[in-house]
Amino acid sequence: MAEDLSISIGSKTENYQSIIPQIKALIDGEPDLVANLANIVAALKEQFGWFWIGFYLVKKDELVLAPFQGPVACTRIKKGRGVCGTSWAKAETLIVPDVEAFPGHIACSSLSKSEIVVPVIRNNEVIGVLDVDSSELDTFDETDKKFLEEITDMVVFDV
Ligand code: SME
Repeated sequence: MAEDLSISIGSKTENYQSIIPQIKALIDGEPDLVANLANIVAALKEQFGWFWIGFYLVKKDELVLAPFQGPVACTRIKKGRGVCGTSWAKAETLIVPDVEAFPGHIACSSLSKSEIVVPVIRNNEVIGVLDVDSSELDTFDETDKKFLEEITDMVVFDV
């Protein structure tokens, strides 16, 4: 495994198409969940430079903070609360162009302006979410949804 990432400076689609095989190579054959989640968020941070990128994992009736890149964040989120808890409750990806317009949004940082949350689903059950925050409005779209869902599908979760 090469430890150096090659960073693409193309379109959003080209950037995902460049980073996804590299993420796959990083996690292939590695069974440790935390190691893989850590490398995924680090690779996404290096490629896209978003403000905050991280996983939350379902533990009992809450989401609990897992590997992330960016400023310190809320540790626990209840089902149905904020963007993350709503994505969990609905078992669907949520794209939020303006976090201030999302009722109940949990502001871990006032610098976060837009957000996408992708649920990680195994055996029809949400077992975690990938949360990405941007310091710009309206950063995320269907392209991000498609590729981030592809990335969360690659992770083997043994939790
Ligand atoms: N904004 C999220 C909380 C998590 S942080 O952004 C890292 C939410 O509303 O669920």
